[in-house]
Amino acid sequence: MSDLLARHRAVMPNWLSLYYNEPIEIVGGKGNRVVDASGKSYLDFFAGILTNMIGYDVAEVREAVERQLATGVVHTSTVYLLRGQVELAEKIARLSGIENAKVFFTNSGTEANETALLLATYARRSDQVLAMRQSYHGRSFGAVSVTSNRSWKNSSLSPLNVHFLHGADRHLAQFRGMSDADYIAACVEDLRHVLATSVGGDVAALIAEPIQGVGGFTMAPDGLFAAYKEVLDAEGILFISDEVQTGWGRTGSAFFGIANHGVTPDMMTFAKGLGNGFAVGGVVARGDLMDGLHAVGLATFGGNPISMAAANATLDYVLDHDLQANAARTGTLIIDGLREAAPRLPVVGDIRGKGLMFAVELVDPATGEPSPALAARFMEETKKAGLLAGKGGLHGNVLRMAPPLTLTMDEAAEGLGIIVNALEVINAEVVSS
Ligand SMILES: Cc1ncc(COP(=O)(O)O)c(C=O)c1O
Repeated sequence: MSDLLARHRAVMPNWLSLYYNEPIEIVGGKGNRVVDASGKSYLDFFAGILTNMIGYDVAEVREAVERQLATGVVHTSTVYLLRGQVELAEKIARLSGIENAKVFFTNSGTEANETALLLATYARRSDQVLAMRQSYHGRSFGAVSVTSNRSWKNSSLSPLNVHFLHGADRHLAQFRGMSDADYIAACVEDLRHVLATSVGGDVAALIAEPIQGVGGFTMAPDGLFAAYKEVLDAEGILFISDEVQTGWGRTGSAFFGIANHGVTPDMMTFAKGLGNGFAVGGVVARGDLMDGLHAVGLATFGGNPISMAAANATLDYVLDHDLQANAARTGTLIIDGLREAAPRLPVVGDIRGKGLMFAVELVDPATGEPSPALAARFMEETKKAGLLAGKGGLHGNVLRMAPPLTLTMDEAAEGLGIIVNALEVINAEVVSS
């Protein structure tokens, strides 16, 4: 065991899990590649969990942060005017499509979701919330209470009264083989039934990820959330889209993931990629909802001048280079390539994705059951070949990948080659065993 790994084990929580049999330390990065402490280079298809959104060592971001550092001001607090916050809020409000939108900046996705849930429960004077099965929304009590994945749920203690909906679980036996339209109809029927049987009085909101990140990039068929919203609107129930993974054009077909469903939500939460690694999260919400709280509030570090400099530069970069179109282009190459290879690889249970957010589900070919062991094999194989991937899904058998939006077509083809090759190696091992 390396000295750093031994020291990590001694002082870090044991639930802070590390990838790989021999975990790596990333010590350098440029473009869409990183280098570990042994000098080995990797094409990064996980981007620090979708956070290094425009890659590494980006001059525009570095220079914006350096300009802010040169002023001598790293922090002022929100009791003074913050130009970077106002500028970024104006851009996000405009891009959101939400009416009279206002923005509050936090330090993380968890804190963003807490804020959205506070706004919704306050506005509706209700502690009842709807969430999706297999969801992940963060690690605080409120965020955990709307999380629906046992591996990530440490506690059932909850400040909210939560009911979980179908919609991203069409692999379940009762839904298998259904058309999109039939599945959506079944889910809507279930939503109506939940509202008729399981709640008392008004419900505050539905919170949902357009594509479930930790859930292994499982997703509702396009149109499901529009169908849900019709039912919610009839009762005044608010809709919160958690865009922590799906925002800023990553899905290729829309700037925010929820737009793939033709829906403008009442609020969206965001974090991860916006600061290209600098800590920033937030909520963009209808102005009346944002202004509705009666007490004052702030997040001391939320939207600090450094993270705002990074986030403004990152968002400008995404827009100036039309990285949404790049996500569509490069993502299509990869997803099509994976779908082409899948029929000759019985270890592949499913390929899914949108833009630069794609996943491969690994199963035991003999039983069709999820295989976390094969997913672990894939991780080692791709590491050896110089590609970083991620793992997820309810059973830990889904390989999820989300490279920086700056991925080139050559890098997309290179990554696809490594992935398919690794799958072929694993498949051959299983078939010959
Ligand atoms: C969809 C989603 N929401 C919220 C969060 C929580 O964000 P953070 O880890 O920044 O608190 C995550 C983190 O993975 C996420 O994927």
